[in-house]
Amino acid sequence: MRAVVVTEYGVLPVVQEVAEPEVAPGSVVLKVEATGLCRSDWHGWMGHDSDIVLPHVPGHELAGTVAAVGAGVDGWQVGDRVTTPFICACGTCEQCLAGNQQVCPNQLQPGFNYWGSFAEYVAIPFAQVNLVRLPDAMDFGTAAGLGCRFATSFRAVRQVGQVQPGETAVVLGCGGVGLSAVMIAAAAGARVIAVDTNPAALELARQYGAAETLTDASELRGVDITFDALGSNELVQQALRALRPRGRHVQIGLLPDGVQLDVGRLIGQELQWLGSHGMPAHAYPEMLELVAAGNLNPAALITRTISLDETPAALAALSHGTPAGVTVITP
Ligand SMILES: NC(=O)c1ccc[n+]([C@@H]2O[C@H](COP(=O)([O-])OP(=O)(O)OC[C@H]3O[C@@H](n4cnc5c(N)ncnc54)[C@H](O)[C@@H]3O)[C@@H](O)[C@H]2O)c1
Ligand SMILES: [Zn+2]
Ligand SMILES: [Zn+2]
Repeated sequence: MRAVVVTEYGVLPVVQEVAEPEVAPGSVVLKVEATGLCRSDWHGWMGHDSDIVLPHVPGHELAGTVAAVGAGVDGWQVGDRVTTPFICACGTCEQCLAGNQQVCPNQLQPGFNYWGSFAEYVAIPFAQVNLVRLPDAMDFGTAAGLGCRFATSFRAVRQVGQVQPGETAVVLGCGGVGLSAVMIAAAAGARVIAVDTNPAALELARQYGAAETLTDASELRGVDITFDALGSNELVQQALRALRPRGRHVQIGLLPDGVQLDVGRLIGQELQWLGSHGMPAHAYPEMLELVAAGNLNPAALITRTISLDETPAALAALSHGTPAGVTVITP
């Protein structure tokens, strides 16, 4: 099969022929129909993820059709249309049994722990726990986003941040994660302030429900909840200064170099620092219902569809910025 192969961190990957994944017991192999280009793929390519072993195939935000079903996987057949949380949870540990698959210690992530979806085929472990059946009406490009960024933001806004109607929510960084968060928080009844340095991203944020847009949040004060949807020390500092006493900050963006927090302010103002990681498969039906009902429209986030051959350059270009909206790859 053809796949995007990283042989050295930070060096342009190449598209080449590699062996197709084999179907192990408990797993399925999917034909990748669509896969999103997420900044986490860029972090992996840059060498920020210690789980990656070179040579490596990135890609974790995906949708596809079942191409092969491993022993012991019941209820799934070749041809089924599916997506999967990028956090493929084991389903049997204490965290999984408590419903917290997003922090499963045995999790395997395609495109990080093993070869991912920037390829014609990808394996999905613990298939019974992680496969999510797609509604017939949903196209694969839209569904891919549910594998990572749209679902991650759904959990960050609704389950971790617990955004309430009438609250003011600030989303810092309006790429795939941030625009999803804008749409989901606005649909939850929040007054959303979207922050990005790219005017084109802010234009989309307005279309998806932002009441206000800013290129810089350093003057903001008194807001209820902030989301770092980029992963930036500078934006974290702006977010924490913007919060009212007892406000919540939700960290979604990765911070490979860490961050310095004003812990005195966290204590004195009783601010809450909340991490948010993906979303478990069992939480998908609520999100899919809101999509089916028209309350959420993840299809609108897609601005660009590219081929596997265009992917290495698109991945490398993330070093210099992000095109507005979500990029989907069709292998
Ligand atoms: N926690 C999780 O489970 C999870 C899941 C998915 C992605 N992520 C992480 O979330 C982050 C966002 O991912 P993405 O794919 O949406 O990224 P992206 O590259 O699509 O978006 C980043 C946005 O930030 C904007 N930006 C850059 N500098 C800025 C600044 N100084 N001020 C304001 N805006 C600025 C860019 O213009 C862009 O619109 C990444 O760190 C990614 O790794 C985390
Ligand atoms: Zn991602
Ligand atoms: Zn587990």
